[in-house]
Amino acid sequence: MGKFYITTPIYYVNDEPHLGHAYTTVIADVLARYHRTFGDSVFFLTGTDEHGQKVEQAAKSKQMNPQEHCDEMVVRFKSLWESLNISHDDFIRTTEPRHTKIVKQILQSIYDAGEIYADDYEGWYSVHDERFWTEKDLIGGKDPVSGREVIQISERNYFFKMSQHQEWLVNHIETHPKFIQPTSRRNEILGFLKQPLGDLCISRPKSRLEWGIELPFDSDYVCYVWFDALINYITAPGYLKEGDAFTHWWPASCHLIGKDILTTHCVYWPTMLKAMGLPLPETVLGHGWWLVDEQKMSKSLGNVIRPLELAEKYGVDGFRYFLVREMVLGLDSSFGGKSFVQRYNYDLANDLGNVLNRTVVMTQRYLEGKAPAVDLSHPSLEFPRHQAEKTLAGVRKHLEELNPNGMLEAIWELVRSANKYVEIQGPWNLAKDPLRRSDLEATMYGLLETMRQLAVLVFPVMPGKAMEMWRQLGMNVELSEQKIDRLEPWGGLAAGTQVAPGDPVFPRIEMPEWVDQDAQPLPKEDPKMPNEQENLISFKEFQKLKLKVASIVQADRVEGADRLLKLKVSLGSEERQLVAGVAEHYDPDALVGRQIVVLTNLEPATIRGVESQGMLLAASSSDGLALLQPDHGLPDGSEVR
Ligand code: MSP
Repeated sequence: MGKFYITTPIYYVNDEPHLGHAYTTVIADVLARYHRTFGDSVFFLTGTDEHGQKVEQAAKSKQMNPQEHCDEMVVRFKSLWESLNISHDDFIRTTEPRHTKIVKQILQSIYDAGEIYADDYEGWYSVHDERFWTEKDLIGGKDPVSGREVIQISERNYFFKMSQHQEWLVNHIETHPKFIQPTSRRNEILGFLKQPLGDLCISRPKSRLEWGIELPFDSDYVCYVWFDALINYITAPGYLKEGDAFTHWWPASCHLIGKDILTTHCVYWPTMLKAMGLPLPETVLGHGWWLVDEQKMSKSLGNVIRPLELAEKYGVDGFRYFLVREMVLGLDSSFGGKSFVQRYNYDLANDLGNVLNRTVVMTQRYLEGKAPAVDLSHPSLEFPRHQAEKTLAGVRKHLEELNPNGMLEAIWELVRSANKYVEIQGPWNLAKDPLRRSDLEATMYGLLETMRQLAVLVFPVMPGKAMEMWRQLGMNVELSEQKIDRLEPWGGLAAGTQVAPGDPVFPRIEMPEWVDQDAQPLPKEDPKMPNEQENLISFKEFQKLKLKVASIVQADRVEGADRLLKLKVSLGSEERQLVAGVAEHYDPDALVGRQIVVLTNLEPATIRGVESQGMLLAASSSDGLALLQPDHGLPDGSEVR
């Protein structure tokens, strides 16, 4: 038995919880639940970040004291987690005395150790993000991360000597490949650390902000909200408290975060831990964004998806399944009602719901509802046993890699194999032939045992639905006590178990009105579509892409970024600058003069401080990368159709 300590970010208490928050918390919950079903001891922590300017301002505008405001706001997160069946072991609020006390103790001890000093500070301050930047950090005079306005500020402040830990941090990241995942995020941080690291301003004068934890060595200041917030990960498991809980849980197995808060978790936090003399978490996992209409969700864009609305309408479990299955960890995903309904209908109604229903109904019809006693070495059982073993190995591997999406893929291979097994074996034919009774019994046992295993395997993702499956299978032991590793050896289903047919566990859902009118009608019959077809786009959508032939006029490396080239390309009537991740495959000089294909109507993006006004097209495989180009020269700007 191992231990698994997983955290979510502590969410800003002021924010209205949305799909993005729900995603991180559901993924953490699923990982926590899988570890529990593998028999590990698990500590799953979530909570809220309650200090800082925005909370102070919001409270003021409601003429409330900030603590009362937080007490009122935190309920929304707590009740959302309850509705989404989140099984956290602790919920920490940064205004709780158990936390503020520890933050003060830490500040004092690292101050005493000489890790904090006072200095006059001149710099740029982003009011919105409550962050300081130096002149050279700014991009176009704005906050380099959020792109928001910054104001110039000069004041005395306290600084944490972060810079002195830079070399150690780079070395740690380089020698611990699991520390930052996925690899793209790790490279991002290593790239960031190629520039000299500054010290971190960790104080705010009370004249500007009062709502924070007072510095124990200077009562005119409060602690910078990120410095306070990150410490939650050690206060909750009992840092500096009596007993051995802390040494049992720390270091954390996984800090699950969105990619927006990578630097704080992969640079500030490790150096803070170093100053405290504590070991670093095993993994910081930065997942991608949920986009809505290709944009980040935000209140001002009015495109915030309220998770509860979907969960209330289609059920918590379908919603949880969708979140886990749809986003490949690390990449961004677009949220659309259509993909939600299709996923639900294909994977849950057609694949899983269907095979469960067929199994239960056929057991009722051909075997009076009872799981038969069989010889486990019957040849008909080879296929389901082999499939289940393959799936269990896949689930183990993906759990180890913190890849819940991969776990579901492995589980759905078993679901699809069971549907295939029904077709190959044809129990309805076997039932007609009394001489094939043992084949019929073996087949039905194989199916029932597969369903039993599936209920255990999907329980961490869909606890409610798995219980319904369990009931229909007639199981009379506690599902929550079943351990995945005890599914082996295969064949644990007791003969004589009496099935209890009922309503379909996953009834199909209809496309709701709010889904765009272009939506494809759903196939009525079991479609068994391969993945790629599920994501078909319409011709209209394809036409939106403006692809053109362009010539490369100039190519240079981007300083501090090993993978990037800055290209100047000609589209005939205009020139554009592109940033392309091809430096590992092409020498800049060899590219000049070549024709390529460019997507020209892509929103400009700033990559490493360089603006990219489009994207070149390239094909890639494990063998390398190849740029697309017309097979004979054409005028620059020619359209690709
Ligand atoms: N309070 C800080 C975290 C401090 S942790 C010591 C904070 N809070 S937040 O409320 O803004 O939450 C950010 C997190 O919410 C992201 O890191 C991510 O986990 C989740 N998401 C918010 N919007 C998201 C999407 N659109 N998509 C996916 N997840 C996102 O930052």
